[in-house]
Amino acid sequence: MSLYSILTFLALLILHSSFTLANEENDHLQTYIVHAEPSDGRVFTNPEELESWYHSFLGTMGQPRMVYTYKNVIKGFAARLSLNELEALREYEGFVHARPQRNLPLHTTHSPDFLGLHQDFGFWRDSNYGKGVIIGVIDTGIFPNHPSFSDEGMPPPPAKWKGKCEFNFTACNNKLIGARYFTYGNGTPMDEDGHAPLAHLAVYKVCSGSRRCSESDVLAAMDAAIEDGVDVLSISLGWPSGIPFKFDAIALGAYAAVRNGIFVSCSAMNRGPSYGTLSNEAPWILTVGASTTDRRLRATVVLGNKEEIDGEAIIQPKNFSQVLLPLVYPGKIAANNPNARFCAPEVDEAGGAAIILVNQEADGDTKNLPTILFPTTLVGYADGLKIKAYINSTSTPMATLSYKGTVIGDDRAPIVASFSSRGPSLESPGILKPDIIGPGVNILAASPVSIEGNRNTRMTFLLGSGTSISCPHLSGVAALLKSAHPDWSPATIKSAIMTTADVVNLAHNPIEDQTLQPADVFATGAGHVNPSRANDPGLVYDIKLEDYIPYLCGLQYANREVAIITQQKVNCSEISTISESQLNYPSFSIIFGSQVQTYTRTVTNVGEANSSYVVKISPPPGVHVAVKPDKLDFKNQNRS
Ligand SMILES: *[C@@H]1O[C@H](CO)[C@@H](O)[C@H](O)[C@H]1NC(C)=O
Ligand SMILES: *[C@@H]1O[C@H](CO)[C@@H](O)[C@H](O)[C@H]1NC(C)=O
Ligand SMILES: *[C@@H]1O[C@H](CO)[C@@H](O)[C@H](O)[C@H]1NC(C)=O
Ligand SMILES: *[C@@H]1O[C@H](CO)[C@@H](O)[C@H](O)[C@H]1NC(C)=O
Ligand SMILES: *[C@@H]1O[C@H](CO)[C@@H](O)[C@H](O)[C@H]1NC(C)=O
Repeated sequence: MSLYSILTFLALLILHSSFTLANEENDHLQTYIVHAEPSDGRVFTNPEELESWYHSFLGTMGQPRMVYTYKNVIKGFAARLSLNELEALREYEGFVHARPQRNLPLHTTHSPDFLGLHQDFGFWRDSNYGKGVIIGVIDTGIFPNHPSFSDEGMPPPPAKWKGKCEFNFTACNNKLIGARYFTYGNGTPMDEDGHAPLAHLAVYKVCSGSRRCSESDVLAAMDAAIEDGVDVLSISLGWPSGIPFKFDAIALGAYAAVRNGIFVSCSAMNRGPSYGTLSNEAPWILTVGASTTDRRLRATVVLGNKEEIDGEAIIQPKNFSQVLLPLVYPGKIAANNPNARFCAPEVDEAGGAAIILVNQEADGDTKNLPTILFPTTLVGYADGLKIKAYINSTSTPMATLSYKGTVIGDDRAPIVASFSSRGPSLESPGILKPDIIGPGVNILAASPVSIEGNRNTRMTFLLGSGTSISCPHLSGVAALLKSAHPDWSPATIKSAIMTTADVVNLAHNPIEDQTLQPADVFATGAGHVNPSRANDPGLVYDIKLEDYIPYLCGLQYANREVAIITQQKVNCSEISTISESQLNYPSFSIIFGSQVQTYTRTVTNVGEANSSYVVKISPPPGVHVAVKPDKLDFKNQNRS
């Protein structure tokens, strides 16, 4: 028997991020997102009138071509059209803009079989807060009857709830109050895929088994969620960095959601550690990166020279022999063999007893654990070099694995995950993104698929990693804050989360990234969410919806482009536009020249009525920062 050490390509399985045009069954027809607005300024007060106006665009093509008419997210509809028909449509009075819909990638890291949602979030579960708050989850659907979605102790949904349960059996309850599907032509909200971060209550399925998440479906789901009365929207989909907000369905839908007082939390995407790899960059969205928790699933490599190197493994054999075995380094696995699972049978056949998996350099120390039904451990890149140096140092390299189970209390946590997408925002570099990081590495999750790949079990929990898992954590925190402070606007909730975030780890050192060096702000944003501190932020940076208009005009968007986002007529030359950094955001992103730059912020006191705040400055190296005034006195709450 021998022990294999293999350098795998545990590179992230990133789904296709390039734009793929919707591949419709009929070659000649494509689904277009069509923006429309009566040019005479007519306002439809009756929703049926508006709908029939949208239908009038399709004339004799009629109903079958209409995919969705939208009520909230945009002024317009989605329709299947040929190029000729599109040309004809452009001549219609009220036509604003049309473009072919795109498909969205899901923000997963593992193979879809190994994904799910963290359901064991103590603060949410143990708190009396959060009751009555509805989180809408736009994702791959829901696997009902899972014990995670039991409604024991849950009150009925609030009276404002207008959602539906579209399962054909009694699946919904007081926990899962809604389940709808917007996978055009595919009929059940059942999760086929396991990517179901159901934090609470209402699920809108937009991706079908083929992993196609089409833009018209996403818009329709957001439209319905707004209509149904959700309080928080949790979205783990999105396009890569740099998509203009006016062409980004999630940015458009999120703007409409915020107008309705709904908080929107989105995954940052899993394309790190390279810079400029974010998704969901709009300033009205909370953009969430991923970091580790303090829990390790320890599987230690014991080398022949007695050196011990800590790795991690999900499957922990209880009786693994502590006798040293020959250690072999067969080299890198081919890049087209992206998951080490596939090599376990080979190692088994060759008489191997276990596999030591070693991260690629880019993943550093982020241990995004694969599920392998064979004894393994995964070590970081630097630790892998140590093992290889040991192999080189002796003619008889030996090793064994020591499985130590779950170890809580890693005081270097949270560590930013290698895969967590990094800023800067390409579409709006003057807004710092991501906004926040939260737990997203090896998180316990409810899943419709068991570790063995079994679908016919109802009691499955798996470990999952990705920003798609950190995002629902933040949706949960937002729900708690919304419940505790029903009058807080989405921007106030976001400010409370960001200004109270932790910038140090449990050992009180600066938060690190996968290299185990201090992480930069393009990895952490404001820092790691601290839910209980977010409940009492003292001061907040609020943003009113109308404040985004001078910001959007400042991005040099044309009037009609701003109008597509805001759904109201805008003339940018008649308002004083602002630079991005001047938006009343809870963080700053400033591109320095040699000139002194001055920006203003307005804070609102949501803390003690009679209170004073003094400025404390910790400037980045090489930057001189001055704040005026350096002291603020308040006599009342909700004063700015
Ligand atoms: C409900 O859905 C299941 C699975 O899709 C199907 O087999 C069954 O026939 C459906 N039942 C009804 C009453 O529609
Ligand atoms: C360890 O335990 C498993 C399951 O109990 C068993 O199948 C396996 O043969 C055992 N291995 C050794 C080396 O004893
Ligand atoms: C081990 O030896 C090989 C061959 O001499 C060399 O290429 C490699 O860099 C060495 N690895 C380490 C970690 O020292
Ligand atoms: C926008 O305002 C400018 C300045 O007042 C005016 O010249 C222009 O005609 C307006 N544009 C539209 C489309 O109303
Ligand atoms: C506000 O606080 C100050 C300083 O603690 C105190 O002197 C003052 O009496 C307080 N005013 C009110 C209205 O409570």
